[in-house]
Amino acid sequence: RKVVVCRDLGPDVMPTLLNHPELEVIVWPENSSCDRKWLLENAPGASGILVLLSEKVNAELLDAAGPNLRVVSTMSVGYEHADIPELAKRGVKFGYTPDVLTDAVADLSIMLALMAGRNTKETTEIWPNFVWSPFAFCGPQLSATSTSPTRTAGFIGFGRIAQATLARLVPFGFTHCLYTANPSTPPNPAADAQVAAKYGVKEVRRVDMAELARESDVVFVLAPGGSKTYHIVNEEFLKQMKKTAVLVNTSRGTLVDSDALAKALHEGWLYGAGIDVVEGEPNVDENHPLVKAPRCVVLPHIGSATTETRIGMATLAVNNLINGIFGRPMPAELSVSR
Ligand code: GLV
Ligand code: GLV
Repeated sequence: RKVVVCRDLGPDVMPTLLNHPELEVIVWPENSSCDRKWLLENAPGASGILVLLSEKVNAELLDAAGPNLRVVSTMSVGYEHADIPELAKRGVKFGYTPDVLTDAVADLSIMLALMAGRNTKETTEIWPNFVWSPFAFCGPQLSATSTSPTRTAGFIGFGRIAQATLARLVPFGFTHCLYTANPSTPPNPAADAQVAAKYGVKEVRRVDMAELARESDVVFVLAPGGSKTYHIVNEEFLKQMKKTAVLVNTSRGTLVDSDALAKALHEGWLYGAGIDVVEGEPNVDENHPLVKAPRCVVLPHIGSATTETRIGMATLAVNNLINGIFGRPMPAELSVSR
C-alpha cells in the first residue's frame, strides 16, 4: 500500500514507516513545506497521506488520491486546514494529535503571560544600553500580591489546553476563572463547579465576551481557528480589557484582529500581548502590525516545540496513519460529529 508523507519526521519515527513490510512510502524530500504540485502528482493510488498544518486537505487532494484513500493523518491538533465534511462524505478517516501537546502549549502560554507582563520585548531589545531606575520597565505582576490578593484568568475556549494552563496559574494565586465557549454548547454550571474543585479555585464560570474582557487579568486565546472564531478578539473586546491586563494567543492568529490589537497596544488599552501565532503565517515579515507593536512579544508558532512533544505528535500521527490504512482503531481519530 502506498503512503505519501509530506515531511521527513525524523529518526525516531520514520523507521516505523520506512521499514514497514507492507507499505510503499513516498516522502517529500526537502526540509520545507511540501510542494502542492508534488503532492498532487504523488497522491494517486495512495491509501494514506500524512500532512502538516501547511497542507490543504480538500476535494482537490482527495480527488487526486482517488478511491484507495482510507486515511489522512495530520501532525497537529488543529484541523482547520482539512475539509472534515468532505472527508466524511468520502468515508476517509482523519487522524490528529490531541493530548500529547497539551502540556507543552500550556507551558508556553504561561511563559508568554510572564513575558508580556514584564515587557521582555523592550527589555531584551534595549539591553545593555539602559540606566536602571526604580520604575523603568515595570509591568503588572502575574502572581497575586498582599495588596491585590486575587487574580482572574480569562479563557476564550476552555478545552484541554486551557484547563492545563489554569492548573499552572493556581500557584500564582489565580482564584477565579472565567471562560467563553462555542454558543451552540449549553452552559453546564455543575461541570464548572467540578473543574473549580479539581484545580482548587473559587470559581469557574462561563461568561460573555464583554465580562471576560472586563474582569480578566490575563486573557488566553485557546479556541480553535476557522470562520466561527475569526477576529473574535476585536477592537470592541480590547477596549473593554483592563489597562493592566495581558492577552496571550497560542491557538491561531485568525482569532485576533491584528490591526485592532496593534492599535490597542499603541494606545495602552491593555498592557501587553504574548503571541505565538499571527494572522497570515507563515508568510509574515517584520512589517506585520504585531511585530511592530509595543509590548508585544511575538514567537514563531512554537507552542508544541519541545523535543518530547514533537516526537509524541509524530509518533501519534504515524500510528493514526498505519492503523487507519489497515482498518484498525486509530489512537486519535477525529469523530465527524465535531
Ligand atoms: C499546532 O498549532 C497544532 O495545531 O498542532
Ligand atoms: C535586586 O536584585 C535586589 O537586590 O533588590
